[in-house]
Amino acid sequence: MDRVTGQAMNRGNHGMGLNSDRRERHLHDQEVFHTLLRDHDRIQREVTNLPNGIRATTTSDDPEIVKLLHDHVPAMHHRLEENFGLRFWDPAFVEIFANRDKVHMEVTLLPNGVLVEETSDDPNVVLLIQAHGEMINGFVKEGFAAAERQGVLPANYKRVSTRA
Ligand code: HEM
Repeated sequence: MDRVTGQAMNRGNHGMGLNSDRRERHLHDQEVFHTLLRDHDRIQREVTNLPNGIRATTTSDDPEIVKLLHDHVPAMHHRLEENFGLRFWDPAFVEIFANRDKVHMEVTLLPNGVLVEETSDDPNVVLLIQAHGEMINGFVKEGFAAAERQGVLPANYKRVSTRA
């Protein structure tokens, strides 16, 4: 069991099982975000809250880290679209996947990082998107120490999932 994702790779994911293609992809994604967490002090991030979500710029002076950001963010966007979840022990992540149909994510690769606009027409999902932006701030600030804690959902956020 991976501590950060809570994915039990050999026993499947909530009983659904991961075929070998998905297992390979998850192992790759995991290696990427573990490296981002390890090298968190080489990453800069600025987040602006918008009325309907966030605009976040995440950058690095290190071209190897830029490559990992260019891998991670589109990979996570894709996982959201296809509902290939992770971190099932963390309600903040369960909720983002449960609301994926209401999350619009626009990713722009920059020469030194990524620009992401994540928005929703649903005010409840806007709260969740902003909380996620904060969580990633924590990953960038503290690395693994932050990734081992659950994300904080705002008190006025209404959960939609019954799984967490
Ligand atoms: C230092 C470490 C990390 C960095 C720099 C990073 C960066 C990012 C960025 C830039 C986004 C786009 C949304 C935004 O900008 O707010 C994102 C989304 C995402 N990341 Fe990461 N990430 C890190 C660690 C992780 C970890 C540890 C996980 C899971 C175990 C993860 C899972 C996701 C998921 C599922 C999304 C898409 C949903 C969302 O927008 O929140 N990331 N990440």
